[in-house]
Amino acid sequence: MESLKYIENNKKKFLDELFELLRIPSVSADPKFSGDVRKTAEFVKEKFDEAGVDSCEICETAGHPIVYAEKIIDADLPTILVYGHYDVQPADPYELWNSPPFEPVIKNDRIYARGACDDKGQFYMHLKSFEAMNASGELQCNVKFMIEGEEEVGSNNLGVFVKENKDKLKADVILISDTSIISNDHPSITVGLRGLSYLEVEVIGPNRDLHSGVYGGAVGNPLNTLCDIISSLIDEKGRITIPGFYDKVVELTAEERSEMAKAPFDLEEFKNDLGIEVVKGEEGFSTNERTGIRPTLDVNGIWGGYTGEGAKTVLPSKASAKISARLVPNQNSEEITRLIIDHIMKIAPKHVKVKVTPHHGGEAAVTPTDSKGYKSASKAFEAAWGKTPIPTRDGGSIPIVALFQKELGLESVLLGFGLDEDALHSPNESYGVFNFYKGIETITWFHKFFAETGK
Ligand code: BES
Ligand code: MN
Ligand code: MN
Repeated sequence: MESLKYIENNKKKFLDELFELLRIPSVSADPKFSGDVRKTAEFVKEKFDEAGVDSCEICETAGHPIVYAEKIIDADLPTILVYGHYDVQPADPYELWNSPPFEPVIKNDRIYARGACDDKGQFYMHLKSFEAMNASGELQCNVKFMIEGEEEVGSNNLGVFVKENKDKLKADVILISDTSIISNDHPSITVGLRGLSYLEVEVIGPNRDLHSGVYGGAVGNPLNTLCDIISSLIDEKGRITIPGFYDKVVELTAEERSEMAKAPFDLEEFKNDLGIEVVKGEEGFSTNERTGIRPTLDVNGIWGGYTGEGAKTVLPSKASAKISARLVPNQNSEEITRLIIDHIMKIAPKHVKVKVTPHHGGEAAVTPTDSKGYKSASKAFEAAWGKTPIPTRDGGSIPIVALFQKELGLESVLLGFGLDEDALHSPNESYGVFNFYKGIETITWFHKFFAETGK
């Protein structure tokens, strides 16, 4: 394919452009960066225009804008809708980065920067693959791009955009690069994502911070109570104690589980990588099952009282925690959020007041392995990597996948190229230079094979 030569000849240009993109701090969660989020959208539009799309618009939403671009070459050809996100997670704690998060550098063949993998480095591969195919006269499918700026804060306005633009978004498949593979030796395709319920709990005790000697032992401590509440939510078998939590969970058959267990996984390597001696989770399930097919509950942050230098003897007036549950297919995010809130309110002791505020959520998704899209992706890996990819279920969430199924009746293909070592959402996020180029190549093959399946 000429496109592959084009990619080979433009490697440096592609990487330089990605670096420019990574330099703009498009942190969607923090209003301080909203100007930069918009700048990023404008940069992305400029690159789409340069790459030769028919049209590209910055679509306003109630939050950060969505960049939409398309090139329709022939209504009789299949259409691929690419989804990605140009927003990134906050970079803090800054002091843990070995180089500044928005000044990308290459070390040991890895690109270090916030968003290098999630998802700037990954969605940009689609833009460059498109450029290569278009410049080489090898574009074989119609292509639409929807790159949003609010994925990391729950995609709240994307649902409205999708509902209002069903015609515009008509396609035969959705292609997303925002997930990981097992390793570069074992490429894989994600076929399952978890859902999410996220909420914040505030426990309120006395009307002011108190001297912990004068009052301690006689007044309920909100931080102690919050910890009691939280620790009662999971039992000694690693099961969540909230009534009804598991009611709708789909249990996998023994056959499905043994199929899953065939995916290569090295528990020692997993533990070494994280610096832990033993793993922990729901009894009766393997590590891959615990993240792939089981729901969980975790505290994401907890605060209250004195956390500064040295010691302050204080009995805090308030305590808070952010809590999230990862969900599996058939569990409904709103329903689970309700169950969690009701349960916490019910078990809250009388000596405190408790407030629970729901945040964003999203539904789990499973994608088929017998679709034209999956088969094309599998062939694309074979062509570019010389290996048949393994289907895997990932623990992370991309809520839009379930929404696409519901609103557009369309299946997504999760053609991601990240690795566990990329440290998504953590300090020193990175993306392999190899994965960036190989991804562009794989995406280009996908277009070819998907075109061959016809409309
Ligand atoms: N790209 C990730 C999700 C992901 C990462 C899926 C790796 C599979 C493997 C995405 O940007 C993300 O971080 N999603 C959030 C959900 C959101 C509602 C904030 C998540 O999973 O926490
Ligand atoms: Mn992402
Ligand atoms: Mn993310």
